Amino acid sequence: MESEIRKKKPITLDRRRFLRLVGAAATGGTAAAITPVWAGKEEKMDTFSPSARESERGFWRRIGHEFVLDPRTTYMNVGTTGSMPRHVIANFNRYNKLVARDPSEMGGEWGSWPYMSELVARIAPQMGADTHEIVLNRNTTDGMCTVLEGLNLQPGDEVLYTHHEHVAGTSPLHVLQQRFGVTLTKVEIPVLDATEQGYVDAFADAVSPATRLIVFSHITYKTGARLPANRICQEVAVPNGIPTLIDGAHTIGMIDLDFHEMDCDFYAGSGHKWQCGPGATGILYVRDNLNRLRDYWSDRQEVFWPINSSLAEYGFFGLQLQLQYVGNDNYPAKRALADACDMWDSIGRERIENYVLSLSAYCKLRIRQAFGDSVVIYSPDAPELSSGLTAFNPFDDCTDGAAMSEFRDRLREEYGFIVRTTDFHVTLDGPEEHALRISTHLFHDARDVEALVAAMYNLFVDMTG
Ligand SMILES: Cc1ncc(COP(=O)(O)O)c(C=O)c1O
Repeated sequence: MESEIRKKKPITLDRRRFLRLVGAAATGGTAAAITPVWAGKEEKMDTFSPSARESERGFWRRIGHEFVLDPRTTYMNVGTTGSMPRHVIANFNRYNKLVARDPSEMGGEWGSWPYMSELVARIAPQMGADTHEIVLNRNTTDGMCTVLEGLNLQPGDEVLYTHHEHVAGTSPLHVLQQRFGVTLTKVEIPVLDATEQGYVDAFADAVSPATRLIVFSHITYKTGARLPANRICQEVAVPNGIPTLIDGAHTIGMIDLDFHEMDCDFYAGSGHKWQCGPGATGILYVRDNLNRLRDYWSDRQEVFWPINSSLAEYGFFGLQLQLQYVGNDNYPAKRALADACDMWDSIGRERIENYVLSLSAYCKLRIRQAFGDSVVIYSPDAPELSSGLTAFNPFDDCTDGAAMSEFRDRLREEYGFIVRTTDFHVTLDGPEEHALRISTHLFHDARDVEALVAAMYNLFVDMTG
């Protein structure tokens, strides 16, 4: 297959165009009040099919046109960071100008100090949370560090975490180990033979009387496996009185989340990845003012210090405000994040989840059709364990990192597909293996997947002779 390099189109940033495209009136009101453009439409797609009704295809194509991604390439690395929709960029620029014109008052457009309450009130209900439980922070790393460094963990306390965690979690955990003598216990989670019960059992079997915290990624960045977060919280953590901290870098904007239903204690996520907000935006959920944590840790007078706060010593402000206020903030970015969230809400978060999961299922199907059933796909097939991340290795030797790096680089240079690679151990004592990780999101469609798989197959034949 020849690399298809299309001509770059000029980028236009125009919110009116967005509204026209989706059939809503350009009301001329404040940009923050984007009309819920898809509200009331009954189109619904539970599974992705290349022969889906034209209207459904047309709908997602319109969504695709809302992104300014370089048309000379196909961007499939949302797992690292996403791309803002046109109207979000346009608004973001407007917000930045507002702040530049009137730096301290910001045109009175952000409400009263700390200028975040209206934004939190827009986002919290979209994720099954109350407004006093949501903090708009910098990113997942920020949320993980805020929670882990703030918890009153002491020598001999045990923290369970999986062997597929990201450094955003493992780095602050290692600080706890070295600074306070916290015991870290790595739980081996099932990879190639993953089942819901297997994940639940892995945690249940590891719990000990010393366990003070369970940390895991809702979707692992290494293979894209989606862990049964609700069951781990409800069947393992809550009955044992153990708080949970979930790394949700890959769920916000991809999966339709309900934090209350999940019943976790802390959830740290990214606004800039699948939610397609600006860089350095994130969402942190902290359950019910830590009331349950105080019950769990009733042997400790203090359970948590908001160390990353300008208000740490002023508890009367309430925890949300303590965590939210870290000095001057990037108000335009947070507001643009809320705009991106509103767009997702208008489309329907469940509808986005169905689309993303169907597209990744299609991606796995096409990979198997091209490379044969024996190809190693590390991402689980079961819909409830799958995500928009597909990790696989077409080579006979999955431990050959150099081959995988060359595969990734040539896919970009010769075919224009931007993906990344990940490294991990399938089992704790097994060798390091390497995978190509593909992100498929709401701005992709079946043709993108088909073109990617064709490119990968051509390149594979070229590399293996
Ligand atoms: C599982 C996981 N956690 C955390 C992070 C860090 O995310 P952020 O850049 O939002 O801090 C990543 C980034 O790739 C990730 O994959």
